[in-house]
Amino acid sequence: RTPDPCVVVIFGASGDLTKRKLLPALYHLEQANLLPKDFAVVGVARRPLEDSFAADMKEGIIAGGGVEESDPKLAPFIEKIQYHAMNFDDASGYDSLNKLLSKIDKKFGTCGNRLFYLATAPEYFSDIINYLGQHGMSKPCEDGGVDGKKNWVRTIIEKPFGHDLESAKALNDEVNKVFHEDQIFRIDHYLGKETVQNILVFRFANGIFENVWNRNYIDHVEITAAESIGIEGRGPFYETAGALRDVVQNHVMELLSFVTMEPPVSFEASAVRAEKVKVWRAIQPIHPADTVRGQYGPGTVDGKPVIGYRQEDRVHPRSQTETYAALRLEIENWRWAGVPFYIRAGKRLAKRVTEITVQFKQPPLLLFKGKDGSKGNVEPNIISMRIQPDEGITLRFGAKVPGQGMNISPVNMDFSYAESFGKSSANGYERLLLDAMLGDGTLFAHRDGVEATWALITPILEVWREKPVKDFPNYAAGTWGPTAADALLEVEGRKWRKL
Ligand code: BG6
Repeated sequence: RTPDPCVVVIFGASGDLTKRKLLPALYHLEQANLLPKDFAVVGVARRPLEDSFAADMKEGIIAGGGVEESDPKLAPFIEKIQYHAMNFDDASGYDSLNKLLSKIDKKFGTCGNRLFYLATAPEYFSDIINYLGQHGMSKPCEDGGVDGKKNWVRTIIEKPFGHDLESAKALNDEVNKVFHEDQIFRIDHYLGKETVQNILVFRFANGIFENVWNRNYIDHVEITAAESIGIEGRGPFYETAGALRDVVQNHVMELLSFVTMEPPVSFEASAVRAEKVKVWRAIQPIHPADTVRGQYGPGTVDGKPVIGYRQEDRVHPRSQTETYAALRLEIENWRWAGVPFYIRAGKRLAKRVTEITVQFKQPPLLLFKGKDGSKGNVEPNIISMRIQPDEGITLRFGAKVPGQGMNISPVNMDFSYAESFGKSSANGYERLLLDAMLGDGTLFAHRDGVEATWALITPILEVWREKPVKDFPNYAAGTWGPTAADALLEVEGRKWRKL
């Protein structure tokens, strides 16, 4: 299905996201013939970039991979890119934007259908939403529409959606005054990743896994979202965010919900969202003693020396911002009661890897003991879902080592995306942009969900704010984070899986 003719209006278009992710994603859709023929993009930002914007986006599309300058679709696509300079807090800019959009409708046949993408710094979200409302731009126009269909206006809102529970609620209230919930697409690009969607397929389209996917068989679950990059020049943003807000409240919580939710009654947006919210609400308040924060100091990443967080540009020399967070939580429901979930996320760790490890309980009797009566080399079964890179799923089990005796060694059964399906250049945004243009909110965050995850994270933020850390930086760049994070598992006789 291709979406209706429409124009995508990107606020904050001079930022990195537009060039690196959004335009390459839109162009991949164009290459796959998934965009409507009548289509346009309008970049909106403060700087007067009229002359250079389209060329800059072209550079981003080519650099995004899989696109040659000579690609026959490229030049006509670049023609569809327009730019509008305005201040987000100046009403007159919205008048002229509105006029430009009407002209674009005539020129490109976009029929009044609009997707407003808010990719600005979060402090502008509510201004933009309010001005769009005041200028009548949040409602479909009366005489629009194509082929007898009513036309539509939708908005995609980037993360961070709020910086704690209270601000998320306030933003939700503001947005809901202007847009109906069906028009709002709160984006979390992790949900656009194939490997993340595949968690649901793995669990619910196969007959063998769901039967053991519960407290009777699972010992514990680990979720790791490790990055080797630092904060990449985003000092002022990261100083107000930290690892908990930047990735745990959103990306990691989404992963957790997919791994733990009950099967929804259908794959409709409301059914999927309802199950996610149920599981987030079943998470017990996270005890401060079950949390660990870290901040990287100077170290070595990929063989190169790197500076510490406090030496990064526009970071306070005594910054208290965490670049690493680990926590232990429990889900108090019938399926999961008593199963610990260990989560860790951080910057400047030993390598980039996002992985979910499900470790199963051992069999009740260990028949194959070592000669000395030890339990032998019997290791627990593991299913690990590699979200990125080297996307795939591994099932680890014990096998008899050929030869005398009954020696056992762990072996792997591997599924690799690249081997089975070939390498993909998709970055997660393709699927989500397309879904928003089609009006399908299944893979987007909903009001209740955002508030449920903030409700879990906010108390930790409050405790951390009240208790400054004395030993920051407490891990060297290029390592696996602070030692206290190991202790979180060790006190329960467990260890983080080596990744
Ligand atoms: C973003 C965070 O949401 O996700 C970044 O703001 C982080 O700090 C990024 O690097 C990780 O995304 P990905 O797709 O590279 O894992």
